Amino acid sequence: MRRSGVTRLRTISNAFIQSQALYTAARLRVADALADGPLPNNELAQQLGAHPERLYRVLRMLAVLGVFQEAEPGVWANNELSELLRQQGEETSMRDMVMHMGDETYKGFTTLSDSVLASHPSGIAFYDYSRGLDFWSWLNLPQHKEQQAYFDRAMKAASASGMPAILQEFDWSPWAAGTVADVGGGVGHVLAALLQRHQGMRGILLDRAPVIKAAQQAWQQEYVDLAPRVQLLPGSFFEAVPPADAYFLKSILHDWSDEQSSRILRAIRRSAPAGARLLLCEVAVPDELAQVQTWVASMDMVMMGMAGGKERTVTEWRQLLASSGFALERVVPLSSGYSMIVAAPAAADE
Ligand SMILES: C[S@@+](CC[C@H](N)C(=O)[O-])C[C@H]1O[C@@H](n2cnc3c(N)ncnc32)[C@H](O)[C@@H]1O
Repeated sequence: MRRSGVTRLRTISNAFIQSQALYTAARLRVADALADGPLPNNELAQQLGAHPERLYRVLRMLAVLGVFQEAEPGVWANNELSELLRQQGEETSMRDMVMHMGDETYKGFTTLSDSVLASHPSGIAFYDYSRGLDFWSWLNLPQHKEQQAYFDRAMKAASASGMPAILQEFDWSPWAAGTVADVGGGVGHVLAALLQRHQGMRGILLDRAPVIKAAQQAWQQEYVDLAPRVQLLPGSFFEAVPPADAYFLKSILHDWSDEQSSRILRAIRRSAPAGARLLLCEVAVPDELAQVQTWVASMDMVMMGMAGGKERTVTEWRQLLASSGFALERVVPLSSGYSMIVAAPAAADE
């Protein structure tokens, strides 16, 4: 037990080395360089402008972890895992998520231990504290165009993997002829899939102005047929949200503190017609610790760091909703690990 305990702690404390090796390969685009077949290490290093010996050692680390393979001594080749890091043009790939986690997220996490000291201002994202501005404003800076692009693509990829469960495992028929507002919907991939599936549905996509600008392009190119049924709306969900029959918020409230989430919910509550529903696609953290999965606990850490947000238990969702003018109706667990949390405007709200 003692020996395995030591090994386990060592593995946990070393984990950043593995993730930084992966980030290095993603940053240098090693997988793309190997797309046409295996390359000797020195040739690969020359192509990438890398130091040959260091590159070799990073790739050996990754090959030990099962990412890339040494086809013959000193010759590197892609394998099933490294193929996922390939990126052609604007196409999404796991590279986007690895870049996001390995760059700004990783750097932000160096301040985690300071942030739990009582002297640290609570309720503030620890990234913001070290950077002096919130994640979204930081992304908006002209020098962070690349980070904005891979963050958007990483979100698109994450949405794509969870999309079948949202579309097929939740009953959207009550809104099949109604208007669904995708609040903070990014460029609108989920909304597009919903409109595709329900020909009588109309949509409103609300997001920050730069994201809506990108959305205009996507809807003109990828979703031309659906565009007449959507309204693309730049704005802030803290200020005002237009009336709709359903307000869909996917992975939004986990970005924000209870106080900020309540402001978003109250903006929706002010515009919600009687009979409207709030549809949150979020994680419902099990109340019992033994049931909490590692990815859920990790995502909760990222939310704490990125925006001062959190993953919430069903009890916490119920409380947040009740304090913001909504009554939780039901929680529908999806096979993706997320849940659809359905709430109605509370009758007694002011
Ligand atoms: C984690 S992403 C989720 C995107 C999308 N719902 C999905 O699941 O793919 C959060 C989204 O909230 C948007 N956002 C952040 N602050 C906002 C604000 N004040 N008003 C509107 N949208 C905002 C971001 O631009 C981003 O698209």
